[in-house]
Amino acid sequence: MTLSDEYLASHPTYVAQIANDVVGFYSLIVEPPTHRSIDGTDCSPPATVTLELDMFFVDTPFAGGGIGKKLFLHMKDTALGYDARGVLIISNPAAEAFYLAMGAERTGMEPPHGKITWPRPRLWLPLSRTSHGDAV
Ligand SMILES: CC(C)(COP(=O)(O)OP(=O)(O)OC[C@H]1O[C@@H](n2cnc3c(N)ncnc32)[C@H](O)[C@@H]1OP(=O)(O)O)[C@@H](O)C(=O)NCCC(=O)NCCS
Repeated sequence: MTLSDEYLASHPTYVAQIANDVVGFYSLIVEPPTHRSIDGTDCSPPATVTLELDMFFVDTPFAGGGIGKKLFLHMKDTALGYDARGVLIISNPAAEAFYLAMGAERTGMEPPHGKITWPRPRLWLPLSRTSHGDAV
């Protein structure tokens, strides 16, 4: 799989490597806060960034070896760097159990659209920090 320079410039993307080989990667869609306004002025309180997990893959020969978990924890840390309440995940149905095991919660089903002609689980990974500043 090849990602374009345009894609990489606009989507935070991280890879997992063993030696010099890329064995997995993920990318995020970051939508800036949208300010709700009823009178043309900025809203208050300000909205937060919206994050969506766009791509998340582990190379097949390495599946089941813990790389997905390491990548997911890295993704969670990355997400915590944004002012976001959580991460939206529209999951491949076969990967839902992995995301549930990682702490995501099913919130509904995404209807088929575009080239995707099947419904997909819609998941939400809540983000919060403990009082000590650690990700939970
Ligand atoms: C889904 C995927 C990312 C998981 O990565 P992985 O490296 O195989 O996962 P790990 O080995 O790190 O597993 C982490 C945990 O999730 C669990 N898990 C992984 N895949 C699972 C599955 N299909 N069903 C149930 N549990 C699963 C593991 O048992 C493990 O649990 P543990 O922490 O208690 O040991 C990987 O299989 C993949 O790339 N699949 C194809 C692409 C894809 O569907 N991506 C998602 C796009 S939305």
